[in-house]
Amino acid sequence: MTLATERWGYSYCSLRLGRVLWRGKGAILLSYRPQACVLPEFEPTQFAMFWVPGIEAIPLAPIYSSKNRIDFLVRLRGSTTRRIVEQPPTKAGIIGPMGRGFAPKAKAILLVGGGTGIASLVPLARWASRNGAQVTLVYGARTDNELAPIEMYLEDLESVKLVVATDDGSKGVKGTAIDALSTINVASFDFIVAAGPPAMICALYRLAGDRGLLDRLYASLETLVRCGMGFCGSCMLPCTSSLLCREGPVFPGSMLDCWAERECEPRQ
Ligand code: FES
Repeated sequence: MTLATERWGYSYCSLRLGRVLWRGKGAILLSYRPQACVLPEFEPTQFAMFWVPGIEAIPLAPIYSSKNRIDFLVRLRGSTTRRIVEQPPTKAGIIGPMGRGFAPKAKAILLVGGGTGIASLVPLARWASRNGAQVTLVYGARTDNELAPIEMYLEDLESVKLVVATDDGSKGVKGTAIDALSTINVASFDFIVAAGPPAMICALYRLAGDRGLLDRLYASLETLVRCGMGFCGSCMLPCTSSLLCREGPVFPGSMLDCWAERECEPRQ
């Protein structure tokens, strides 16, 4: 069974802002076009180092990419993302693809995402659906105006079921993405993939552990990425020699013990 794909080699491409597709609370969805270069091909869950001229490069997974377009969902987290959200750069650049693609041969796959984690899961939903899987994509946010309009990337796919959850009940199920799983038979999926805030991944890690499903769980993690190229070691998964930017960002549940010890609140 092939899960992770091996394809090394980065390329740089200059970008020009095409359109602002959406603005939400502390978030923005941007569509860029290549400028006299060929956009690198991204496999599901791979990411790019997105360069904001004069500031720095930050890791971003494209929510959509084709030969002549690449879209990024950016959420305000620090000074660079603030600049992008408030003043999207008209000129930018990317180096990529970073990390390994994640390509599970699944019959039925459950994807659970929140925050910018959803940007990794949308291409995975598209890939899995086109490869014959039944896909359930659960997307959680605090409130309606934090939910990016991901439907636009899924509308040509029949085998993707989208379940939305908001903490305040302003759209979809009232509660978290994990609460929304109470209406879903989690054990009926052969793969469960999580991407989003650590608290959400922790909750899913625990749920999978309690139900004996840890061997089906995979998580796309977000750790500190500095170089993005396997040089600096800042993105090492705890208690392993695996680097998120080289072997990740998706890791199996069986590798997450130490990560969970560090990141997850103890049970009450
Ligand atoms: S970010 Fe430097 S090694 Fe991964």
